[in-house]
Amino acid sequence: MIQLKSFKLQTPIYQSPMAGCTNIPFRLIARALGLELAFTEMISSEALVRENNKTRQLLKKIRGDHPLGAQLVGHDPDSMGRAAALVEAMGIDILDLNFGCPVRKITSSGAGSALLQKPDLAKKIFQSVMRHVKKIPVTVKMRTGFTDASGAEALRIAKIAEACGLAAVTVHGRTRAQGYTGKADWKVIGLIKRALKIPVFGNGDIFSPEDAQRMVELTGCDAIAIGRGALGNPWLYQQICDVLEGKKYALPTFEEKKEVVLRHVQLETQYEGEKNGVLQSRKIVSWYFKGCPHVAQFRSQLNRVTTKKELLKLIRHFNEEKSDEKCS
Ligand SMILES: Cc1cc2nc3c(=O)[nH]c(=O)nc-3n(C[C@H](O)[C@H](O)[C@H](O)COP(=O)(O)O)c2cc1C
Repeated sequence: MIQLKSFKLQTPIYQSPMAGCTNIPFRLIARALGLELAFTEMISSEALVRENNKTRQLLKKIRGDHPLGAQLVGHDPDSMGRAAALVEAMGIDILDLNFGCPVRKITSSGAGSALLQKPDLAKKIFQSVMRHVKKIPVTVKMRTGFTDASGAEALRIAKIAEACGLAAVTVHGRTRAQGYTGKADWKVIGLIKRALKIPVFGNGDIFSPEDAQRMVELTGCDAIAIGRGALGNPWLYQQICDVLEGKKYALPTFEEKKEVVLRHVQLETQYEGEKNGVLQSRKIVSWYFKGCPHVAQFRSQLNRVTTKKELLKLIRHFNEEKSDEKCS
């Protein structure tokens, strides 16, 4: 169990925020299969304080979607503080600050991973957020550096975060310059873990329960943030919990996989409407069936469906006569 102020995380995992991915349907599916703590995608503090309706929608909570974290991205201490107060008032359970986004549009304004090189501004942001938030824990998620891969930049920011009263730090073992290429450097996660007293979450390249076990052994991190590994594989959360408890884990059968995909598509169309839901589902469905036999032909059919009915039929009939074939 990990204690973050009054918030208790029972499982050593959370789902990393992912723009365009970690929406309500994704979170509901993940929770049904064992995820405890989910996050919304990153939210611009500037847009939130300007009362941007679309941004507020991203923070919408529904029954069963709990505990829920939100993540703010921004560079201005005042807006970050005011946005943090709004997030807390909306009933969010935990607030994360984005110090990792590599996208130029974000870094050119001085936000996301650009903050790794601005310790004075980072401190002002932390202090402002801590002044505005009353109860919920505040955490920060960062990359190892902007271009410097040694971990020195992340370490400096992590120490400032701890001194300002933040509850935990997540480290994605890549620099901004790396984007999503190469391998995540887990050594830097270990370096930061050893330097801090507050919990450290490790992140980067966890695609299997064995990866999670290796990360914990190598870094000593308190818990793990799962990113791309759970796209189309929501069974990963429970598998990791099992492995970390020394238990055997189960793989889903092809039929179980199909059932979950069908449910995911139903939710996606329910929450996004049929047109958008079907478009989004093309991407979601291909996550699930990646590596399955005959998937190339399936994907080309998938990219042509326009209605929910066609989509559900296509999924139901996928590999119908070959359901004993294994997906890799
Ligand atoms: C499509 C996509 C969207 C992402 N959006 C966010 C985001 O909104 N906030 C954030 O902190 N990280 C975001 N990330 C980074 C992930 O949360 C995670 O840190 C990164 O993918 C490394 O973990 P992984 O190797 O397990 O995927 C995003 C990554 C991807 C691929």
